[in-house]
Amino acid sequence: MEAAGAEKPIYRASTTAPVNIAVIKYWGKRDPKLNLPTNSSLSVSLDQADLRTHTTASCSSSYSSPDTLTLNSKPESLEGARPQACLSSLRALRSELEEKDPSLPKLSTLPLRIVSSNNFPTAAGLASSAAGFAALIRAIADLYELPQDPTTLSLIARQGSGSACRSLLGGYVAWDHGTEADGSDSKARLVAPKSHWPSMRALILVASHEKKDVSSTAGMQTTVQTSQLFKTRAEVVVPAAMEAMEKAIAEKDFESFAKVTMRDSDSFHATCLDTTPPIFYMNDTSRAAIRAVENLNKRAGKIIAAYTFDAGPNAVIYYLHENREAVVGPFKRALGEKEGWLGQQGAAIGYAEIAQEDE
Ligand code: ADP
Ligand code: DP6
Ligand code: CO
Repeated sequence: MEAAGAEKPIYRASTTAPVNIAVIKYWGKRDPKLNLPTNSSLSVSLDQADLRTHTTASCSSSYSSPDTLTLNSKPESLEGARPQACLSSLRALRSELEEKDPSLPKLSTLPLRIVSSNNFPTAAGLASSAAGFAALIRAIADLYELPQDPTTLSLIARQGSGSACRSLLGGYVAWDHGTEADGSDSKARLVAPKSHWPSMRALILVASHEKKDVSSTAGMQTTVQTSQLFKTRAEVVVPAAMEAMEKAIAEKDFESFAKVTMRDSDSFHATCLDTTPPIFYMNDTSRAAIRAVENLNKRAGKIIAAYTFDAGPNAVIYYLHENREAVVGPFKRALGEKEGWLGQQGAAIGYAEIAQEDE
């Protein structure tokens, strides 16, 4: 979009993207350069009313080079190979359009300014890199008026941050590891739209807003190099879990969904612990959340809640709307009583809806 009346026009587009929380975790790259994963993964995109990234991309001949990114009001480098891969893929697609239609403004040659903010903790295990890169890719694709569909854009987002490819779609989304050496089949796939299972909810428990010590990128690299459990997880555990998870979602079988989710979270954190030096993403508060889920499931006499933790201490608890009181009630009470949930670390409780497939 062009700003009216400007001598040197500024072209601008804004967008938002959702966080997605994996129920089968991506952990390990078979090709770090193309950001190709060792195993497939599956996640649920959360409603943007709760957690979202907002990003504005603009370009103008009045801007000086290089491209810039401002993240949560601070400058953030775009110099790494991964953001650069995203920017050059998007510029190449814009430049194809400009070659086909010479009347189009030559946006592909202009410096970019990207301004982004997350309304949730950044780099704390709540998928900021996923929402962040999905929003960045979509904002620039909108700015460049690219015709590519979300699945095709997911191939570009994947190069920025692997989990970002899944945030281009809403609902229940898989990222198939793919087998092509160039990564052309390693992209997001819609497993089911939100409307398929409308009573699914996620409760987010922020145990810490702190930036994690070990980034996901660095952590998984060390796991690939040193963990003995990793190979079995990637080759045996995850393929079986992916199959069971897709079945559970197709049949709207919450107990199976929950069992597979909790097991995969445990398997992922066990693999982190099996890394040298060991990686501890969970803390005492996280472990208290696991016990709270166990207890409320015991009380209910069936599984009505499932915990999962990404690469950070913050808990995501999946449950069905009809069990809201039995699941959310105990956590609300624990929030009031337990040190670590409140105070300096800043506890937050959110009831996330699950995003639509076209968000
Ligand atoms: P998380 O668990 O939050 O995904 P990661 O270690 O995977 O943590 O990635 C965090 C990094 O992702 C940040 O340090 C930053 O480089 C990048 N990132 C986070 N949010 C954004 C955003 N909105 N736009 C661009 N990059 C972002
Ligand atoms: C534990 O996608 O953040 O959240 O590709 O290196 O940017 P990079 O890693 P990232 O890893 C996410 C790991 C996870 C599991 C998941 O989201 O599937
Ligand atoms: Co991440």
